[in-house]
Amino acid sequence: MKKIGFIGIGKLGLDCAEVMAEKHEVRGYDIYPRTSNSVKVCDIDELINESEWIFIAVPTPHAEGYDGAVPSSHLEPRDFGYDAVIDAINKVNLHARESKKVVLISTVLPGTTRREFVPRLARKHQFLYNPYLIAMGSVKWDMVNPEMIMIGTEDGNPNALAGELRELYDTVMQNDPRYEIGTWDECEAIKIFYNTFISAKIGLVNMIQDFAMKIGNINVDVVTNALARSTLRIMGPKYMTAGMGDAGACHPRDNIALRWLAEEYDIGYDLFDTVMHAREIQARNLANFLVEQAKQHGMSIVIHGKAYKPDVAYCIGSYSTLIGHYVKQAGFGVRYLDPLADNPAEVISELVGPAVILWAHNRKITYNYIDDQTDTMPYCAIPRGSIIVDPWRKLPVIEGLTVIPYGNTRNS
Ligand SMILES: NC(=O)c1ccc[n+]([C@@H]2O[C@H](COP(=O)([O-])OP(=O)(O)OC[C@H]3O[C@@H](n4cnc5c(N)ncnc54)[C@H](O)[C@@H]3O)[C@@H](O)[C@H]2O)c1
Repeated sequence: MKKIGFIGIGKLGLDCAEVMAEKHEVRGYDIYPRTSNSVKVCDIDELINESEWIFIAVPTPHAEGYDGAVPSSHLEPRDFGYDAVIDAINKVNLHARESKKVVLISTVLPGTTRREFVPRLARKHQFLYNPYLIAMGSVKWDMVNPEMIMIGTEDGNPNALAGELRELYDTVMQNDPRYEIGTWDECEAIKIFYNTFISAKIGLVNMIQDFAMKIGNINVDVVTNALARSTLRIMGPKYMTAGMGDAGACHPRDNIALRWLAEEYDIGYDLFDTVMHAREIQARNLANFLVEQAKQHGMSIVIHGKAYKPDVAYCIGSYSTLIGHYVKQAGFGVRYLDPLADNPAEVISELVGPAVILWAHNRKITYNYIDDQTDTMPYCAIPRGSIIVDPWRKLPVIEGLTVIPYGNTRNS
C-alpha cells in the first residue's frame, strides 16, 4: 500500500483519488472544502508530509469566454493559466521535509513543464507529467480503463521514476493499459494533440454534414460510414509519420477544388484553405532549414527525389518542387537527384562535392502497406562530408555523413 496525496480534488482529482483509495492510503487537499468517504481530506502540511507520491490536479483555466460555449474563434489565442500549478509546487517546496515524487495531471501546453514548473520545484523532489484522457461523466471508469497512460520524464527514460509510477498504476488498472513514456514535452504534446485531433476529425465530419444540407441528395451518414470503414488509409496508422507533405496528381488539387465548392455553396468557412496554407508553410519551414544548413556549411542544396513519390516519374503536385520553390525564394539554388523524374529541369545525375541533401523519397514509408519494401537506395554516390536531412527520421548513422533527423529534437 502506497501513501498518496492529491492537491486539487475537484471534478477530476476527487474521483481519481477515490479510485486510488481502493488500494492505497490517499489524502486530499483543496482550497475549497471537499468531502469524501474514502479519501482523507486534510491540511496541506499533513498531505505533503504523509504522502510519498503527490498528484497535482488543480485547474489550468482558460481565460473568460474561451471555453467554446459562445463564439471565440475571433479572439486572440491565449495560453492556459498556470497559477494554481505554481501555487501547488510552491507548497510542496515550503512544506516537504523529505524528497517527494510529484506528478502533474493537469493539462498544459508543450514546453510548459520544462519552462515553468521544474525550475520552480526544489531540486530534492522528482517531477513527472502524467495527463489523463478522462471525460466528465465517466471519470472513475476512464481512470482505470484508459486508452493509454502517458508518463513524461526529463529525458524520456522509461525506467527509474516512470517505472515506479507504472507499478503504482498497475495496482489499480482494469484494462492492462498501453504506456507511452516520453519526455515531459512529448507527453504534453500527446495529450493536447489527442484532444485537438478529435476536434479536427469532428470539424471535417460536420463539414460533410454542411455540404449535405447545401447540395442535396446526400445523407451524411452514407459518406462518413464509408470513410469510417476505410481502414487502409483513413482510420489506421497510415499517414501518421510526419515527413514530406501531401502530394501528387490528386490530393492538392482536390483540396483546392473543395475550397471552390465550399465557396460556391456558401458553407461559410474554408477548412481546406487552412490545410493547403499549412502544407505550404511546412514546406517553407523545411526549405528554410535546408538553407540554414547550406549557409552554415557553405554547401549547395540537393533534393533526393523530384517526383511526388519514389518509383514513379510524375513530378505533378510534387512536394519536393514546392520545397525547391521556397529554397529559391530564399535566394538559394536547388538541384534534384531522380533518375525517373518526368521533368528534367534542375535534375542532375551525380554529385561532385558534399551537399545538403533532403532525403525526400522513402520507399518503405510510401509502399510498405503493399508488402515488405526495401529502403530507397541513393540515386548516386553521396560524397563524404554531405549533410543528409531526413524528414522521415529513418536513416541510420552513416560513416562519413551527417544525418539530421528532421522533427526529432530530443537530446537522447
Ligand atoms: N475534468 C476532466 O474531465 C479533465 C480531464 C482531463 C484533464 N483535466 C485537467 O485536469 C485539471 C483539473 O481539472 P478539473 O476538471 O478537475 O478542475 P476543477 O476546477 O473541477 O478542479 C480543480 C480543483 O482544484 C482546486 N484548486 C484550485 N486552485 C488550487 C490550489 N492552488 N491548491 C489546491 N487546490 C486548488 C479547486 O478548488 C478544484 O477543486 C485541468 O488542468 C484540466 O484541464 C480535466
